[in-house]
Amino acid sequence: MDVPVLAPETDAMRVAPSSVTPSTADPLWWRSAVIYQVYIRSFADGNGDGTGDLAGVRSRLGYLRDLGVDALWFTPWYASPLADGGYDVSDYRAIHPAFGELAEAEALIREALELGIRTIIDVVPNHISDQHEWFQAALAAGPGSPERERFWFHPGAGPNGDEMPNHWVSNFQGDTWTRTTNADGTPGEWYLHLFAPEQPDLNWNHPDVRREHEDVLRFWFDRGVGGVRIDSAALLVKDPALPEVPELVEAGGHPNTDRDDVHDIYRSWRAIADSYPGTRVLVGEVWMPDPVRFANYLRPDEMHTAFNFDFMTRPWRAFELRESIESMLEVHAPVNAPSTWVLSNHDITRPVTRYGRVDSAFAFANKRFGTPTDLELGTRRARAAALLSAALPGSLYIYQGDELGLPEVEDLPDGARQDPMHFRSQGVDPGRDGCRVPLPWSGQHPPFGFSPPELTWKAGGAAPAQPWLPQPQDWAKYTVEAQEHDAGSMLCLYRAALRIRRELDVLSDGGLEWLASEPDVIAFSRGGGFVSVTNLADRPIVLPEHHEVLLSSSELVDAPSGDGRLAPDSTAWLRT
Ligand code: GLC
Repeated sequence: MDVPVLAPETDAMRVAPSSVTPSTADPLWWRSAVIYQVYIRSFADGNGDGTGDLAGVRSRLGYLRDLGVDALWFTPWYASPLADGGYDVSDYRAIHPAFGELAEAEALIREALELGIRTIIDVVPNHISDQHEWFQAALAAGPGSPERERFWFHPGAGPNGDEMPNHWVSNFQGDTWTRTTNADGTPGEWYLHLFAPEQPDLNWNHPDVRREHEDVLRFWFDRGVGGVRIDSAALLVKDPALPEVPELVEAGGHPNTDRDDVHDIYRSWRAIADSYPGTRVLVGEVWMPDPVRFANYLRPDEMHTAFNFDFMTRPWRAFELRESIESMLEVHAPVNAPSTWVLSNHDITRPVTRYGRVDSAFAFANKRFGTPTDLELGTRRARAAALLSAALPGSLYIYQGDELGLPEVEDLPDGARQDPMHFRSQGVDPGRDGCRVPLPWSGQHPPFGFSPPELTWKAGGAAPAQPWLPQPQDWAKYTVEAQEHDAGSMLCLYRAALRIRRELDVLSDGGLEWLASEPDVIAFSRGGGFVSVTNLADRPIVLPEHHEVLLSSSELVDAPSGDGRLAPDSTAWLRT
């Protein structure tokens, strides 16, 4: 029988009435924080409707404390038609009714803080939902109206205006312009959307747009959030002439990406963040191949950190990973910002799947159905990658479910898929639903404790609600319940790693020193007698001299005879 999820009796669920832990008083907490990404729809369902919610998260705060995280980043939890999983916000000051209410979010922020866990919210400034009152007002007000100036409305090109104003490319594939219909039924102006048509781009030259977002920041900082993750942060400012993208783009010269003016926005946001007590951080989603342009976002009066996506996109090869680590540390040094380490998120193929493929690099454009995957190999490497990334200097992001070693779900029924990336690719790209499947908590059968079965039974004997995306039947082995007491599980590995990371001062802020090693090995010291070694060779390697193996992602070969060697695709943490 499933273990009831919401039973308040069990320890893991009880929120201890403790005082705020010292770590929340540390102004530099963000430089080495472990940040757990909650995709709220799929984390835990508190009311039995098959969709994750705030009540579910509150009931699992004990789990997050035991995991050892410093902060939670919530993907958008606001009112939204969910055309893009909530990245289409219709009201920033309201919680989506399926997730709960504002008062509950406030309670969650408070309760988490009592456990020493900060909350980071997601702000999506490039676009809003087409159902947002501003966009609805703009459609109603018609061409030439002040309401339309908050967006990018434009007459079409060509003699009848029936061609798009330009040919900018969408991150979601497909067109970036959609034509409107006038009140009298005739074809009207076009509007810009760098993502789906349900996500019209805002005009950041408009003072209302700036003011509104500054108010939204204050609204949430007033409610105690510790930071803001900034969606699509490099895209906000556009060249008002809306020119085509030139063949050769000079730095700062792209008409819709990384324009120099975008930095003014973050300077003003930083001033707002700094006006609050405690350190409220700005974390940018900045996809930027040019390292210097990337680092510009991290200047001392702009964002605190930005996602380092380079590491995550690299294949499982020592040379590639070492080069990525080196270059990321180098990029961050001049602006004195810590790097972030990210193995995945709600947009990316799960690590155990990715690392189990012949091509273990990640690129959106390469995602295909039916790619052969060796999950055993992928899991082994993902364990090694977890320890490698947790040993690096900077802040660490963990996407929910990676600590359980969940694989990408690649065989979702077509009718269940929701991601616009899938549909806009004409079904070629599997999309991102496969990494968003609800978490398995306990029991032998779906919903694996994700929804509380006892509530649905009480509500009239109906069958328990099915999760909004179906879970594979064979996920019993991945539940928290199954892993919690299995010393060899991914969950126990993560818990042990985060405990050691917290206990050892040398693993907080700072640098690293590379150790001489053979080419397929990544070995470095963090000082204070701590060494991390990752073996990407195809045979076991002899470990550097050490006093103690603190943690290892796989059993040492020949251990416990004393001369243990590190198996392929493994990481060991050593005290030397
Ligand atoms: C970011 C989000 C992604 C979303 C997109 C548009 O890349 O991570 O999930 O679809 O922005 O808002």
